Amino acid sequence: MKNIFIACDTNNIQKIKKIIRQTQFRLKEYRIGYKFGLEFFYTRNGRKFIEGLKINNLWLDLKTFDIPNTSAASIKSIRDLKNISYVTVHVSGGLQMLKAVKKAAKKYNKKLKILGVTVLTSFSNSSIKEIGYTKSIKDLVKKQALLAKKANMNGIVCSAHEIKFIKKICKKMEIITPGIRLKGDKLNDQKRVMSPREAFDNGATSIVMGRSLIEGNIKNNIQKLIESLK
Ligand code: C5P
Repeated sequence: MKNIFIACDTNNIQKIKKIIRQTQFRLKEYRIGYKFGLEFFYTRNGRKFIEGLKINNLWLDLKTFDIPNTSAASIKSIRDLKNISYVTVHVSGGLQMLKAVKKAAKKYNKKLKILGVTVLTSFSNSSIKEIGYTKSIKDLVKKQALLAKKANMNGIVCSAHEIKFIKKICKKMEIITPGIRLKGDKLNDQKRVMSPREAFDNGATSIVMGRSLIEGNIKNNIQKLIESLK
């Protein structure tokens, strides 16, 4: 079963409820999931709301990027959120950090899957140079995929452009791709984008979509997504 995660990127609980209500569709082969990122988790009532959700396939997109001890401690701090299936950490945090996070997950919530985030889909080959990287995105992601595998991550987050070579490295791992746009959609800040159909055809096990689905008329957007996957 492949996942379609809907990024609940808003700070408004009523909007989140609407998103969940209006995206309950059934599609053979695909399962819906919901992703909560920093925008919602950081709100006063966000954490409590997530804690009370009785739906499956929830992803907390914390994108932890800190020293091993602090990153591992963040996993301990969310140990009460037993309904969360996935959490993210930046692979750039290094092997020691990734291993510490895995160890914490094993200790505090055995069912929690840890996803390693590689180069963000908002980076291009030129903007990645601005922060001092000298390798191409492809080479960087390759290195990060090897590291994620070594640290025994459950899955990897990358752009759909990198799936093919990642699949060779991370054979049995989940591959989750943001930067997904339907035909004619605005790219916004995303640089490495692809359509849902192409991402799945390339071998993504999951895609994550935010603005294309949650902005404007949600039901119409979902209909467009379903059509595009036929
Ligand atoms: O609105 P859009 O579809 O661009 O949203 C993509 C979502 O995926 C956002 O919530 C963003 O935080 C997340 N994400 C990403 N790139 C990554 C990892 C996560 O865009 N590498």
